[in-house]
Parts: sequence; C-alpha cells; structure tokens
Amino acid sequence: MADTLTPVLTANWGDERAWKLANYERRDGYQGLRRALTMEPAEVVALVKDSGLRGRGGAGFPTGMKWSFIPQDNPKPKYLVVNADESEPGTCKDIPLMMASPHTLVEGVIISAYAINCHTAFIYVRGEVLHVVRRVQQAVREAYSAGYAGKNILGSGYDLDIVVHAGAGAYICGEETALLDSLEGRRGQPRLRPPFPAVAGLYASPTVINNVESISSVPAIVRGGAEWFSSMGTEKSKGMTIYSLSGHVRNTGQFEAPLGITLRQLLELAGGMREGHRLKFWTPGGSSTPILTPEHLDVPLDYEGVAGVRSMLGTKALQCFDETTSVVRAVLRWTEFYKHESCGKCTPCREGTWWLVQILSRLEAGRGEPGDIEKLLDLCENILGRSFCALGDGATSPISSAIQHFRDEFEAGMHTPAWELFPYEASRRF
Ligand code: NAI
Ligand code: SF4
Repeated sequence: MADTLTPVLTANWGDERAWKLANYERRDGYQGLRRALTMEPAEVVALVKDSGLRGRGGAGFPTGMKWSFIPQDNPKPKYLVVNADESEPGTCKDIPLMMASPHTLVEGVIISAYAINCHTAFIYVRGEVLHVVRRVQQAVREAYSAGYAGKNILGSGYDLDIVVHAGAGAYICGEETALLDSLEGRRGQPRLRPPFPAVAGLYASPTVINNVESISSVPAIVRGGAEWFSSMGTEKSKGMTIYSLSGHVRNTGQFEAPLGITLRQLLELAGGMREGHRLKFWTPGGSSTPILTPEHLDVPLDYEGVAGVRSMLGTKALQCFDETTSVVRAVLRWTEFYKHESCGKCTPCREGTWWLVQILSRLEAGRGEPGDIEKLLDLCENILGRSFCALGDGATSPISSAIQHFRDEFEAGMHTPAWELFPYEASRRF
C-alpha cells in the first residue's frame, strides 16, 4: 500500500531545514527554472497544458488553459498572483507545503511568471499565519540573493519582482476576486465575473491567480515532463496531489498520492479510524462539499468521481468523523463559520446563513420546531445558485447532504439535545 504514495511535493519534508535554499538546491532545486529559461514562454504554457495539471485550490480548472487566456497583445502589465489564503475548514496542505519547502513555491512562481510574460508576482498569504509569511519572505530573499529573482534572472534577460503580502484573515479573501480587492487595498468582497481575472484582474490588468499547490507542481512538471506527470492520476484528473486527513483517524496529516485514490486506501495509509471506532461520515473537500458516508469509501477522489452527488473534490480536505459525532452539531459548527465569514454583499448568503444558524442551534439543543427540516432545505434551495459567490453555495452543501444521509438525527433534534445523544467528551476522547 505504501506504493500508493507518490512523494514529489512532499519529497523533502522529512529533511532537516528543507526550507533553506542550499538544501533545496541539493535536491534538484531550481533545475526546473534553468530548463524553463531555455524554452520560449509559450512552450512552457504548452507543457503545463499537456501535463493536464488542474487547479489544486478546489475548482480543478486546467492551469495551462488559464495561462493561455492571458492576452499577450494587451499592452498592460500582466500579473501572477498566488492564492495562499488557505482557510477552508479541514484544509491543511498549502501551509505545510510553504513551511516545509517554500522554494518549491518560489521556483514555481518564477517559472509561471516567465510563462505568462509577467514581471511582478504576488504571493497573498493568509494573515493569521505569520510564521508562514516569514518563511516565504525569507525564501524570496534567498532567491533574490542567488540570482533566481530580480533583474536579469540567471543571465537570461528576464526580470521578475516577487511581493509577499499578508492578508488580514478573512475567509472571503480566498475567493479570487475578493483577494484582488484586498491586494489593491480595499475591503475584500467578490467582484462580478466575467470579466475573469485573466482579462481584467489586479489593477484591471490581465492576471493569473493560482493556488499554492498548483504553482508548486510546475517545477516538477518542467523537470519531469508532461508525460511523466500525466502518467499519474486518472483520465481527466492527472498527476499527484496532497490530501489532508483530519478528525478521528489514527494518523492525521498530509498524504501525497495520485488523483483518483479512494478514502479507503488513504485510511489504510493513515492507520485507519481510531481504535474501537468506525467511520460515520466524512467530507471530500472541506466543509464546502457535501458530506459522504462509508458507502462512498471506494469513490475515486478526483475532479469527476465524487459520488455523483452535487459535488466536486474541492480542497481534498478529508475530515473523518466516527460514530461518537453528532451530525447536527458538526453541521452547525460549519454553518456558524460561514455566517461569521459571509462578507455581507448579497442577501441570500448574509441573511440565509444567519437563519440557518438559528434553526440548527435549536435542533442541536433539542428544541427544534415542526417544519424546521423543511425550512432548512428551503433556505438551502434559496441560497444555492442565488448567491454572488461560491461561499453561499458552499454553506448549503453540508446541510442538505447531512439531512439526506442522517435525517433521523435532525428529527431527534425536535426533542433531544445533541449532547445527550452524543456526549461531547466522547467525540473528543482519543
Ligand atoms: P470557479 O470554477 O468559478 O473558477 C475556477 C478558476 O477558473 C478561477 O480562477 C476562474 O477565474 C477561472 N475561470 C473559470 N471560468 C473561466 C473562464 N470562462 N475564463 C477564464 N477563467 C475562468 O471556482 P472558484 O469560485 O474560483 O473557486 C471555488 C473553489 O474554491 C471551490 O471548489 C472550493 O473548493 C475552493 N475553495 C478553496 C478554499 C481554500 O482554502 N483552498 C476556500 C474556499 C473555497
Ligand atoms: Fe459575500 Fe456570501 Fe454573497 Fe459571497 S455569497 S458575495 S460571501 S454575501
């Protein structure tokens, strides 16, 4: 089963001080950049397109195709922005990646910027994780000193400045257009799309926005080639990727494996559920994707395969809960998060998440009222597809899927508090 792991991005995570430039260079670091600089920018775009790399932030949009949308005949500057605002509940892959191997990201930034003819790149890091901001800043400084960034990179005549920017800790700033507003110094709120950032993004200029893991995959693709990368994964979801496992599993953490692996296989790698307990429900991609059950253990975790439910793989944050967990309580906690993080721009999300929390709170307390389940479903129906951005839609996913799979627990909320059915301490004890 250990063969299932394909450590590429995580290959040097075990090395002491893997984040230092010298240690990164010892493991082929910046060889991808050296090779990319011998190619034409359009050739690098074509290579990434051929590899089949898809956006690892959650949506799975083809990375090379996104780069090719940048209009090269537009006289405005082109920008590259790395979305390092990882905040989806349960998602913890980009932050360890930046901590363990920040130069993988920095090298990816330089190659990607070169490919799209960009001379200023930004790395927008989630504000709360100051240690990560410092780690990435340090790596960028090292890259400048070694001639990998700045003027005339490695004597190629290509110039690039890299700016590391700390956000202020709002979940909505992970939405790409809100991130751009925030980067421009305004309150982060989503913009209307189209125009997509590729056409009018940062300062209304053509902008590529990619997730940390997507950009960090680029150096290995340039070194190993499109064929090597696309030999991993499934027909439409190519390559390896990082899954984060959390919750009631024996060994939580990050597991790098080909797209299309199943939770059953990943659980085996993680030592299974905690002793004496069984899986009750899980999320494939953080809390913005519908919850699944043990019946979905063999569903391929790729961008096509997640269970035929209205879903996508999302951020590959596999949160696993055992039978001691109240579904109503878990869903309420997530919904409180969405209510708190709703930016308030549109009514369905701003008002809807507030009402969802009211109803779920009384169901958790065993004080549910007749018709509450129908009200929840009705609210979800009115938020879904009517919200301005994906946050509103995502907020409804755990609720409607939880009712679909565990309606009896919501019905029990009419008379019995969740803490009597599922004592809180039992769910926490390891
Ligand atoms: P989306 O599918 O609307 O867009 C994906 C990307 O493709 C964007 O960069 C967009 O600009 C680009 N794109 C799509 N159509 C295009 C077109 N016609 N022309 C040019 N570019 C186009 O998805 P969105 O709203 O950007 O992201 C939603 C995802 O974010 C969800 O799947 C969710 O899993 C994930 N997410 C991740 C979080 C994290 O912490 N990593 C937090 C919250 C959500
Ligand atoms: Fe803001 Fe929510 Fe509307 Fe998105 S869906 S724009 S987060 S209020």
